[in-house]
Amino acid sequence: MKRRLHSAGDAVWAVPVRTSTGSYPVLAGAGLLARIPEFLEEYAPAHRYAVISDDLVASLYGKDVVDACTFAGLEANLFTFPRGEASKSREQWSALTDALLRAGIRRDGVVVAVGGGVTGDLAGFVAATFLRGIPVVQVPTSTVAMIDASVGGKTGVDVEEGKNLVGAFHSPRVVVADPAVVRTLPPEERAQGLAEAVKHGAILDAAYFDDLCEAAGRLMAGDTDATMAAVLRSVELKARVVTEDERESGVRQILNFGHTVGHAIEAASGYTVSHGTAVAAGMVLEARLGEHVGVTEVGTSARLTEALACFGLGAVPDVRFDAAEVLQYLGVDKKARQGRPRFVLLRSIGVVHEADGWSSEVWPDEIEDLVQEVTGTSARRGDGSISH
Ligand SMILES: NC(=O)c1ccc[n+]([C@@H]2O[C@H](COP(=O)([O-])OP(=O)(O)OC[C@H]3O[C@@H](n4cnc5c(N)ncnc54)[C@H](O)[C@@H]3O)[C@@H](O)[C@H]2O)c1
Ligand SMILES: [Zn+2]
Repeated sequence: MKRRLHSAGDAVWAVPVRTSTGSYPVLAGAGLLARIPEFLEEYAPAHRYAVISDDLVASLYGKDVVDACTFAGLEANLFTFPRGEASKSREQWSALTDALLRAGIRRDGVVVAVGGGVTGDLAGFVAATFLRGIPVVQVPTSTVAMIDASVGGKTGVDVEEGKNLVGAFHSPRVVVADPAVVRTLPPEERAQGLAEAVKHGAILDAAYFDDLCEAAGRLMAGDTDATMAAVLRSVELKARVVTEDERESGVRQILNFGHTVGHAIEAASGYTVSHGTAVAAGMVLEARLGEHVGVTEVGTSARLTEALACFGLGAVPDVRFDAAEVLQYLGVDKKARQGRPRFVLLRSIGVVHEADGWSSEVWPDEIEDLVQEVTGTSARRGDGSISH
């Protein structure tokens, strides 16, 4: 449960995340970015701090974090890399690692990841492997990073064979989320993280799902209070699941709702469709699948469609998909067991269907129906691909 901390400045809320090796807090509050040095001294005392940001976030916030540290008498250096998913690579991991070594960061150093999910994953993986592991502090600046990536301790990079295939679990010492920073995030980027918030409501908390719909306008406008409320609730919900199942063998699977189809959409689009957009469409289609197989309450996919539309999400993206490719991506999904894809299906908004585990195997003909919903009816065009 979150609790309010005594604080000299604005309110700071703390949500504890328990892991097998201990526990770390996610701190959230407007204006916390300016107080990073305080939290570094309290949760991750070090001789040197390596602040890692992409080039855009470095100019918006990373430099200020370093200046605040210097002003507070802490030794901090800024390390930057080019913005974008392409930087979540072994090459960038290696370049940053070398830069830290050259700058003289040693075992008594701490990595401070200031940025979106790319920075969190990349800088987190640098920290996980640097001199066999030094602490990391996560300072998420995008809604994706605050709402989703800040909990769970996953770090890593993408490789040619797929996204996030090389990495490590490396929990942060503390996460400092300042919802005021989403003001500078473009609305479509805000929506990306909010898709995961809708997912948290859909799988665990119907009241939160309704709250998100009601606050959609303010959330899309980057309102600090509305963002703060969503970050806190999502972090609480995700932390609860991750605490129960740190290594993804059981209940953590429910976080994959919308993701089996979402990943297929992402991959079949050649990653031109972003994750949140793909997952949003995936949630609608997986809810419809659940309705077809008779486990999901009828009307659930319609509620999801309506909720996601408030964030400009939920429709199958306007991209030409190849049916065979979508099928193949569904079949090779890493969560697929015995060659048949498994889906996390809802019972209703706020409740996941649990039968033989948290995901259900679905028959191939039902999957084909689903693929047709992604691609449109291939027969209509006769060329195996469809533009929506
Ligand atoms: N580790 C996990 O559990 C986990 C969970 C979800 C997503 N992820 C990863 O996160 C990544 C996606 O995260 P993302 O969407 O934050 O991408 P990102 O880090 O690339 O950020 C998106 C863009 O927004 C910019 N940005 C970030 N914060 C900003 C701010 N406050 N103001 C203005 N611009 C800002 C960035 O410079 C970037 O251009 C993916 O690689 C995904 O795999 C990891
Ligand atoms: Zn996701």
